[in-house]
Amino acid sequence: MKNTNKHLIMPIKPLVFALGVLAFTNTAFAAEQTLEQQLGQLLYEDINLSLHRNQSCESCHSLSTIEIPIEGVDGNFQMAEQPTLGFVDPSNVLNGTAVSDGSRRRAFGGLNAPSVGYAAFSPDFHWDGELFIGGQFWNGRASNLVEQAKGPFVNPLEMAMPSEWAVIERLKQNRSYLRSFKRIYNIDLRRLREGNPKVGEAYEAVATAISAFERTSRFNRFDSKFDFEAAGITQYNASEQRGADLFDDIAQCGDCHSTDEIDGESGPALLTDFSYDNIGSPANPQIPRRPQADPGLQGNPNIAAVHGNASELELDEVQGRHKVMSLRNIAMTAPYMHNGVFKSLREVVHFYNTRDVLPACTAPADATNPGFAVTCWPQGEFHSTRNTKKMGNLGLTPQDEADIVEYMKTFTDNYPEWGNSNGLSDPNVPTGTPSPFANYPIPDHSN
Ligand code: HEC
Ligand code: HEC
Repeated sequence: MKNTNKHLIMPIKPLVFALGVLAFTNTAFAAEQTLEQQLGQLLYEDINLSLHRNQSCESCHSLSTIEIPIEGVDGNFQMAEQPTLGFVDPSNVLNGTAVSDGSRRRAFGGLNAPSVGYAAFSPDFHWDGELFIGGQFWNGRASNLVEQAKGPFVNPLEMAMPSEWAVIERLKQNRSYLRSFKRIYNIDLRRLREGNPKVGEAYEAVATAISAFERTSRFNRFDSKFDFEAAGITQYNASEQRGADLFDDIAQCGDCHSTDEIDGESGPALLTDFSYDNIGSPANPQIPRRPQADPGLQGNPNIAAVHGNASELELDEVQGRHKVMSLRNIAMTAPYMHNGVFKSLREVVHFYNTRDVLPACTAPADATNPGFAVTCWPQGEFHSTRNTKKMGNLGLTPQDEADIVEYMKTFTDNYPEWGNSNGLSDPNVPTGTPSPFANYPIPDHSN
């Protein structure tokens, strides 16, 4: 899981395309990178920047594909290489676990690692007059990617370094960093001493370089079937089309996971409006040591400063509200929700559809109840402030639910490869077709 080169020793699969995909990922993207982006990638992958030299950003936001159970055209599941990256913790995807191990073993966080893919598009955390919008993390407490990237190194449950200075000391041990920091930021790491104000500047540079890497096309491909359809280059099959219609109509998913173009014109869609909501997700009793329910926005220390008049806020405007995550590559990033309580997309859609139809689970009133998702749903972690307007009783048939799941699978990137393998073929989008939005600018919200 932590070996980024594991595909090199991967046995040859019947799925020949898998190797093609990986070669494509490594060569095409590396060549285009600026020096700052290259440095960002080294930092992103460097396990030496964690306490026990065993964990990097990459451990929880992976840059290599793994084998997952994939449903074939015949309806049977087979282990196959992921067609594209989800930028999440592969051990969670494989095992259905919600949270990640830290650098210190058995130091688990309480939340599911979200994708870093397309995270660059989240605007700076702000109040738009009606709603909190943007930011990074499930509760938006980091305003942008640079602020976010300063967190994990010194988070005791993640990379667990004792201080920013300790991170800089590790940088000093690598000659390539000495050269790059001088060249890109004019910072001479060798001359830095503990307590020197330049230490903060160097730490900021670490986060800036990482954010530059996260803004490369590698994390923001825009080459899903959804994109090619939006650009008028291909069509959905019947099931996907029904799912698309339902998504924006009676299922109301598009009200939050917006399918509108970012720029209102010809740009791609991000499948989120970057707002926050309490959808009534039940607790996940499988998280080690059963942490307290995460209150979402209510636990964001910046809401008062950003809102200006926080005393006016009602409890239901913040409590249990988590960020509406983009659904791009969602089929690659199970389990789902801030606490990973749902194991599959089917379960997610069934929840939105029947949350208020099925009776509440009793004894045990949580996801360990054998009737979970079948005969009952547990109450949400913040039940009284949940959204009751747009979800809970959508009146979808089982076929409708299945079609919405099929539609969500079109959000998977690298369609020119996966759409022409495993028995699929799309003459409109042959292998190697570039993204219709390849030149769409990736914003920098940190300045
Ligand atoms: C031990 C696992 C782990 C490590 C290591 C880790 N992360 Fe994360 N990451 C998470 C979890 C869990 C969250 C959600 C935490 C929260 O919302 O409070 C997260 C959230 C994020 C987000 C926010 C995405 C969004 O849409 O809100 C970004 C970006 C991110 N991480 C990047 C990084 C970078 C860069 C590094 C390395 C400096 C890193 N992560 C290291 C687990 C990890
Ligand atoms: C009112 C806004 C809203 C509507 C409507 C909505 N969602 Fe969501 N969605 C959210 C929020 C907020 C989250 C994160 C909730 C959490 O973590 O507890 C989420 C999470 C998800 C996730 C998991 C994301 C992840 O990274 O784990 C999926 C999948 C999803 N929604 C699909 C759908 C579908 C399909 C529909 C329509 C049937 C829908 N949503 C309707 C707000 C909404």
